[in-house]
Amino acid sequence: MFETLTALGIESSCDDTAASVVCRHADGTADIRSSIVFGQGELHRPYGGVVPEVAARAHTERLDHCAQRALHSAGMALSGIDLLAVTAGPGLIGGLMAGIAFAKGLAAGSGKPLIGVNHLAGHALTGRMTHGLCFPYLALLVSGGHCQFLAVKSADQFLRLGGTIDDAPGEAFDKSARVLGLAQPGGPAIEAAAMQGYDKRFRFPRPLSGRDGCNMSFSGLKTALLKEADRLRHGGALAAADVCDLSAGFEAAVADVLVEKTAAAAEAFRNGIGEAAHTFTVCGGVAANRRVRDRLEALCASTGMTFVAPAPHYCTDNAAMIAWAGIERFRLGHRDGFALGARPRWPLDEVSPPILGSGRKGPKS
Ligand code: KG4
Ligand code: ZN
Repeated sequence: MFETLTALGIESSCDDTAASVVCRHADGTADIRSSIVFGQGELHRPYGGVVPEVAARAHTERLDHCAQRALHSAGMALSGIDLLAVTAGPGLIGGLMAGIAFAKGLAAGSGKPLIGVNHLAGHALTGRMTHGLCFPYLALLVSGGHCQFLAVKSADQFLRLGGTIDDAPGEAFDKSARVLGLAQPGGPAIEAAAMQGYDKRFRFPRPLSGRDGCNMSFSGLKTALLKEADRLRHGGALAAADVCDLSAGFEAAVADVLVEKTAAAAEAFRNGIGEAAHTFTVCGGVAANRRVRDRLEALCASTGMTFVAPAPHYCTDNAAMIAWAGIERFRLGHRDGFALGARPRWPLDEVSPPILGSGRKGPKS
């Protein structure tokens, strides 16, 4: 049995350089000693999206400072760390390689064990760090590049029950924000505009609604918003009220799809797991959205499921989730040597066949 384990986590899979110190106590509780995130928004803004080469260079320049800040605000030296956890995929190859090379350097210099972590496992296991979730549970992982329902059976056993067949919701938020002339990342910008808008003025499609199963689709929704915006714009700029109403209608449609398909996934989860299947968590960047959280919480309340959503800053990319997932893997006996490589594509469930067309586009795929 392990006593307290302390990890330094490193995350650099997309456009956030992050480092964090997390302790797991013997009773399973977590102590997030620090969580530092250096966003790169300002670097990518002129290009309207994440530029992989720019991201990789920025990670390389910032990782050292970021990790020092994480250790410093945790009040620790590297010598007090038990293991190093680093995101090894999925994500942008340049950023992943920058993080892995940095972590290998720390491991070589300190003699500490190195653990490669799947970024999606980091998201899916966050509820264990923040709320002490017990296995098994159902997770909806909904982010910039991914959207999937997972039966999480252990820290290294994930069964995908369904997911998006095209875009991820975060990607749809980001692309729709661009159409509406809002800032990136699009999710928080659309959420802020939606708060001022009327969500019933536009009735956007709910793709795959009424169909069996818990697969989802979001690309038609994005196209519907684009068409409506073009119709309203008459070649000029959109009125502020239109932007708010379009945002509210879009957000409502995303929330409706997630709620309907979560109900279907919960049934599939119950059928597969039985009695123990009563806990649901939502995770990933889109889980920071208030309307999405509230609607899913209401669904769980009406169906007798326990609802867990990590605080918004642990839904969006961070390194605390990587440190925690590294500790979980370490406890299961996983170790990675200096042969650890980047895996730009790395499905959590490596057994189920891929969902047609999913997770293949965008910087976060
Ligand atoms: O998990 P994350 O930080 O990175 C990935 O692993 O993809 O998720 C980023 C995505 C972006 O598409 C962003 O627009 C979306 O999460 N997002 C939100 C909100 N905050 C971030 N979407 C809707 N509402 C939000 N408040
Ligand atoms: Zn993420």
